Amino acid sequence: MENRSELDGAAAAAAQSTIGQSIEDRADAIEHALAVELDRVATRSVLYQSGDADPTTLSSSPSTDGRYLLMGQDPRLQEMPARPTLIDFFKRRFRPYQHLLQSARLAKLAGHDEKIVLACLLHDISMVGLIRCDHGYWGAQLVAPYVDEEIAWAIRYHQALRFFPDESVGYDYPELYVRFFGPDYHVPPYIRRDYDEARRHRWYMTSRLITLNDIYAFDPTVSVSLDDFADVIGRHFRQPAEGLGFDNSPSAHMWRTIIAPTRAL
Ligand SMILES: [Fe+2]
Ligand SMILES: [Fe+2]
Repeated sequence: MENRSELDGAAAAAAQSTIGQSIEDRADAIEHALAVELDRVATRSVLYQSGDADPTTLSSSPSTDGRYLLMGQDPRLQEMPARPTLIDFFKRRFRPYQHLLQSARLAKLAGHDEKIVLACLLHDISMVGLIRCDHGYWGAQLVAPYVDEEIAWAIRYHQALRFFPDESVGYDYPELYVRFFGPDYHVPPYIRRDYDEARRHRWYMTSRLITLNDIYAFDPTVSVSLDDFADVIGRHFRQPAEGLGFDNSPSAHMWRTIIAPTRAL
């Protein structure tokens, strides 16, 4: 396997030679240069690989040019330990996660119990580690085997609740969403349905508290450390002895995908 400095050198050369081109073209050039340097062929999921293209137009098998497909961790990513903990994922896979730390910090400052603090710390875990679309649903499934059922529930529904004001707690439709999605954006029916469902649920306020600590959690002047939450994680996240990804839980495969996102199979 090539070492990291050779890979970094290839990436730097590709970056240098494409100055002036679009970000997308430069990213593709760097990606290509790294793929050439690896002694295994790293693949990407069809959806990611396709970018702007229709995935049905892509060739079905990657060209290996006589090399083998990568069946382990991607050497371009930081190596994960054999029995990874949640903290390892934060440090070596998740980015950017300041927003999660800031949300958890706000929940702590507001005096909420540790269950809420952990829910805030993990609420966008899918966004920073797996996939953006329907991140509430993916994130809830990812952590469900390891946290209190109420925490996973709150993470699932926060995505829908973000779109709906609740005057009783001073939560308005986010300004940021108008900027992000435009003034005419309307949520799809399943988000409205799940909001209605959450509204009637006994854990509604747990999920609502995530959205309350979420909206003010983008303060660039505050830098929070993951160490501040090591104790909360230790008390409320059931770290499996085998390591996340290897404990045969219903979401173990999702953790393995985060460990090795370019593994061929
Ligand atoms: Fe979110
Ligand atoms: Fe968030």
